[in-house]
Amino acid sequence: MRRLLKLLLVLVALVIVAVIGFGGFIAWSFVSAKEDTVGKVEFDRPLAVPPLAESHVDAQGRRVFDLTLQRGESDFGRGGPTPTWGINGDYLGPTLRARRGEKVLVNVTNELGETSTIHWHGMHLPAAMDGGPHQPIEPGETWSPSWRIDQPEATLWYHPHPHGETAQHVYRGLAGLFYVDDPAGPRLPSTYGVDDVPLIVQDKEFDGNDLDTSHGLFESTGILGDTILVNGTPGPYLDVTTQRVRLRILDASNARIYDFAFDDGREYDVVGTDGGLLPEPVPVTHLELSPGERAEVVVELTPGERVVLRSGPLTSFDSRFAGTDDRFDVLELRAADTLAPSPAVPAHLAPAPELADDEIAATRTFKMSGTAINGEDMDTGRIDIAATLDTTERWVVRNTDGSPHNFHVHDVQFQIASIDGQAPPAYLRGWKDTVFLPPGREVELLLHFADYADPDAPYMFHCHLLRHEDSGMMGQFVVVRPGAEPGSMEGMDMDH
Ligand code: C2O
Ligand code: CU
Ligand code: CU
Repeated sequence: MRRLLKLLLVLVALVIVAVIGFGGFIAWSFVSAKEDTVGKVEFDRPLAVPPLAESHVDAQGRRVFDLTLQRGESDFGRGGPTPTWGINGDYLGPTLRARRGEKVLVNVTNELGETSTIHWHGMHLPAAMDGGPHQPIEPGETWSPSWRIDQPEATLWYHPHPHGETAQHVYRGLAGLFYVDDPAGPRLPSTYGVDDVPLIVQDKEFDGNDLDTSHGLFESTGILGDTILVNGTPGPYLDVTTQRVRLRILDASNARIYDFAFDDGREYDVVGTDGGLLPEPVPVTHLELSPGERAEVVVELTPGERVVLRSGPLTSFDSRFAGTDDRFDVLELRAADTLAPSPAVPAHLAPAPELADDEIAATRTFKMSGTAINGEDMDTGRIDIAATLDTTERWVVRNTDGSPHNFHVHDVQFQIASIDGQAPPAYLRGWKDTVFLPPGREVELLLHFADYADPDAPYMFHCHLLRHEDSGMMGQFVVVRPGAEPGSMEGMDMDH
């Protein structure tokens, strides 16, 4: 009896120790989950600017680009090389540029040693050229999609989209920009790398010199890193030689949501979003971007000053494990002692999207929760939606859980009709292909399906937090001619 009591006491003690230990672990995880690099970044490296992709025009008048997906290594200031993936280089890829109206052909060669794809995020194009999970490029193979660029000038991007592997491929470094140019557009700073500078912003976690690709225990959103890279540069500064500089910011992170502001709280103008320029410049002091989203901003500098672009904490919602409390020093702008004059930002930039006056052919609802949409996981063998060519639909998207999500649609640029029943803020009144959904938010989108119908080739819609996307938070739609049925996707189901 006494022995039994003793044993019981020991057991109780053990349980108490375990509980305290686990509680401590939770508390420690909570505290250590917060990242803060403000004031700690040295800004000792010049910002790398991705090279412009070379191209030539072939006999059929197509602008031809050649891209090779390859392995390499990069200097991220870790004291040794970091194994990375890149396109025509060790990390990230060159910036493609084509004019509205031009035909393009891109030869994408896969030298990775494993299957990948390249998707043209934000591009309006035939589904067979889209580069989603149904257009795999096998190792050693070349895929050569071709299409005509027909959409407003915009900062688009490209990245892999292999089924269930997108997070890994993007995280290792496969991403690049694709600018659509329009010579008839308004006069904005436009000298590449001088007063028109891309900022591909990513957060990384390291394990020694290596990129840490393990998943944090509490990071259900996916990898959240403690180091910011801009165009692959840690601790970057940019020498500015003009009075105004246009920054084209891309959140190419797996899960990180940023809220960009300058250290002195100065105002800057948002001039463009995902799919093109805004109707007019919108002055802001801070701006939120979720993975996949872009913003073009114009900042004014005074001679000789230094100003730091920072991120966080977020104001739209609060979730420590989604990184909302984190703060980062992102980039230092160093103005020269004399700055060349820049044109003033034009008061009118581009026509506003006006899909609201069209007839709505269908209203659909999307509930984003966990890693499913409307309770269903992605099935590459299932068409979720068939939209009719030349019609406009209303898509109502709601985040119904406590995790952040966003919603990206291939092929179309949409108009945000409302956010939680209100008109969207001015900086969200341009064309968008990705919209952020903090917990509880509901957005109403208007989408017009034009030009390309194909009952057999689906486009994707999905959460662009890449772990969610890979885990099944994605669906497929086709665009069909009036009266046509979607093709059967028999035999198209892929396993994760
Ligand atoms: Cu940025 Cu489905 O993609
Ligand atoms: Cu996309
Ligand atoms: Cu999500």
